[in-house]
Amino acid sequence: MIPKEKIEEVRDRVSIVQVISEYVPLTKRGQNHTGLCPFHSEKTPSFTVSEEKKIYYCFGCNATGNAITFVMKKEGLEFPEAVRSLARRWGIDIPESVKAGPDPREAVFHALKAAAEFFYKELRAQSGAAARAYFKGRGFDEEIANRFNVGFAPGKWDGLTAYLKKKGVPTEAALDAGLIIKGEKGIYDRFRNRIIFPITDIKGRVIGFGGRALDNSMPKYLNSPESAVFKKGETFYGFFQAKQPIMKEGFAVIVEGYFDLLALHKHGFTNIIATMGTALTPQHLRVLKPFCGSIYSLFDSDQAGKNAAIRGLSLFLAEEMACRAVLLPQGKDPDEFLRLSGPDGMKKAIESAEPLMEFFLKELENKVKLSSPEGKKKYFDTAMEYLLKVRNVAERGHYASIVAAALGMSPGAIYEALKMPLGEGAGPVKTGVLEAKGSNLMELTILRVILKHPELFSDKIKTAIEVFIDPVFRKIGLLLAGNCEKGLKNDPAALLGELKDEDAGAIAALLFREDDGFVEDPGKMLEDSLKRVLNRGRIKETTQEMIRMLEETGRDEVASLIKKRFEAGPAGKGKV
Ligand code: UTP
Ligand code: MN
Repeated sequence: MIPKEKIEEVRDRVSIVQVISEYVPLTKRGQNHTGLCPFHSEKTPSFTVSEEKKIYYCFGCNATGNAITFVMKKEGLEFPEAVRSLARRWGIDIPESVKAGPDPREAVFHALKAAAEFFYKELRAQSGAAARAYFKGRGFDEEIANRFNVGFAPGKWDGLTAYLKKKGVPTEAALDAGLIIKGEKGIYDRFRNRIIFPITDIKGRVIGFGGRALDNSMPKYLNSPESAVFKKGETFYGFFQAKQPIMKEGFAVIVEGYFDLLALHKHGFTNIIATMGTALTPQHLRVLKPFCGSIYSLFDSDQAGKNAAIRGLSLFLAEEMACRAVLLPQGKDPDEFLRLSGPDGMKKAIESAEPLMEFFLKELENKVKLSSPEGKKKYFDTAMEYLLKVRNVAERGHYASIVAAALGMSPGAIYEALKMPLGEGAGPVKTGVLEAKGSNLMELTILRVILKHPELFSDKIKTAIEVFIDPVFRKIGLLLAGNCEKGLKNDPAALLGELKDEDAGAIAALLFREDDGFVEDPGKMLEDSLKRVLNRGRIKETTQEMIRMLEETGRDEVASLIKKRFEAGPAGKGKV
């Protein structure tokens, strides 16, 4: 168990802005910092971080919490691990206890780091001559090798195994990291006689490796298996080095291969990331999204390349990221294309890239026979499916007119067809829970006042909270009141840490609301709202009493009429 005061110290001392900035670029806006929400897709920032309150809140999706819960969510840590990890970084001393162990991933990270050192040295050692020659033969110098910590795994079966043993890395950790393999005859190195590309996470920590065979042996590339720290579906090779350039350029260029990425870097294109041969996933885009709004995908213009490009289209539309397809000449990957056409050719190819959606529509047009009614139907159905996924109205109109032209229809007819109910996921983003209206507004006011001015708390407030209609407000209210009664302060970061997501979201929304008017005379605002809420309770009681009486005396018709009207909302529209 971590002592309670230590948890408090972590919450108070850790800079939440600094913690979150490592995942999401934040900009200062008045008292708060804002950025694109890392928990849902958005184009305009509604994610807000308050250093003063030590909490974050997203006005779009209600995600909220403090630095500890943020680290838990983003790093997949348990509560004690998250507290300890933050404490370590901020030099807060937490006594080790028997119960709380260290982050189980530490050992894996440590093994990977040791392995990276080994491979690095091997490439630069005398025995690494053949590997160096291969690397140089592919057109790369030492500077690029160092920039990406490229290494070499020697041809032996126990090169790394022996090194890790010498360094005291536990076999278990090396196995978990996928560095060594347990066979029938014992343990041996996974990577042998290969150029090694260390794969890092967004912070630059090594999480796995890719290894290129020096000769024609298969497979050409061998990658680390997934592990506690390596998830292929959310990792881009080279992201750590590309992070700053991507932010500066405003877009990222995606390639497939390790050498493609290196070749682009060599020619001065540094906002490059690689998918390492796997398909793009929504998680990939979520990782990237806080850093840029658009992406260029470099593809070989053979059919496989085109199909791969188009496969990504739905993903980009769903995440509202602009994507352009850069088509390279048939059979050429970026590395080969650069050798052929140089950086100027590449620059032109990137500049003349067309939006992926337009490329898709063109391909579709080529595939169907537009002169036949069946072809028109196929084109229309498929195009509509994608058009409906384009959320921005202006953009949708742009593509709609392309579709209209292809079909020889008026754009108006396409717009008309687009007015059909939108499919799942095409609707507007859900907004915050706290668009309070009517009676909720009074409940909201009471909560806000006691959050800001606990000194105004009284028994009357407690009574009012007990008759709150909104169940979430009531729950929060009772929690706040409980703290006030005990003379505890309602510390925002502490509150959020104790609540379930939904309720926490509601409190955060309260905390981040603009200080409109009520601050001027909180006492009066409170008095007003209290009176209304308490009266409302009384009206409810007397109405119910009356209904009961009417029913008991056989005047059911009148009773049900009153009941209906009452349920329709005497509390609604703020008229109580
Ligand atoms: P390619 O087969 O296009 O190779 O694979 P490449 O990158 O052009 O490699 P070179 O230039 O011949 O050295 C593209 C990417 O797919 C992954 C690798 O990340 C590779 O860079 N891949 C490919 C594998 O993971 N395993 C393989 O066996 C092949
Ligand atoms: Mn290649």
